[in-house]
Amino acid sequence: MPLRRRIFPASVPALVPALVLASLGLAACAGDALYDSVPYDPLEDYVEVEAATILDAPSALAGRYAPDRAEQVERGEYLVELLGCGGCHTDGALVGVPDAERSLAGSRTGIAWSNPLGERNPGVVYPPNITPDVETGIGNWSDWQIADAVRFGVGRHGTGGIRVMPWPGYARLTDEDLEAIVAYLRSIEAVRHRVPDDVEPGRRATAPFVYFGYYRRR
Ligand code: HEC
Repeated sequence: MPLRRRIFPASVPALVPALVLASLGLAACAGDALYDSVPYDPLEDYVEVEAATILDAPSALAGRYAPDRAEQVERGEYLVELLGCGGCHTDGALVGVPDAERSLAGSRTGIAWSNPLGERNPGVVYPPNITPDVETGIGNWSDWQIADAVRFGVGRHGTGGIRVMPWPGYARLTDEDLEAIVAYLRSIEAVRHRVPDDVEPGRRATAPFVYFGYYRRR
């Protein structure tokens, strides 16, 4: 029986017979058969990932930045990894299977942004493509538009649009660090990858999503 099953039992009902059997000295032979009798074990869907693979930021491409900017771009890559941008903006990362080919190119798994326990269909945002692709990414955003999105949560249509990205945590980035992030994002490969449209609360999302925490909108 794999260790994690013992640490995180699938459910209390599954645990109780296990304890009874263990007390009878039968645990050794019960093993997986016991769990096989459980109708659904959420741990079947659990995939172990190496944390580092989620946060790996793609390398900047030589030729996409001026040689005298190399240090700035490198700092930007370091910051993007450290601030976990890829944990949301990479397809698959939110469900533990980041697609290295689509690093920072947006997530087709969305994030619910109101209370899913209180609202049957919460709003869902899909972390957008932040590679320099002009059509599906931020290729035609100005440096300031990108910087304002990261530091002040200003969405593509003006003030206050960004609800889910943890920009308040980035609000104290220095101009220098922010410029490094922008310089880096401009110098990575442009990946063409369109994410699903955001879904307003009350509407049914057709693409998958996860939700973080518990948040009731007023
Ligand atoms: C917790 C998930 C999450 C993290 C971490 C995150 N973002 Fe975002 N980001 C989003 C989502 C979702 C949006 C869409 C707007 C919203 O939040 O409502 C977004 C929007 C953006 C936008 C605007 C692009 C557009 O097309 O609207 C930029 C630029 C951006 N993020 C860059 C970054 C950078 C750079 C980092 C790391 C410093 C980062 N994000 C970290 C989830 C995240």
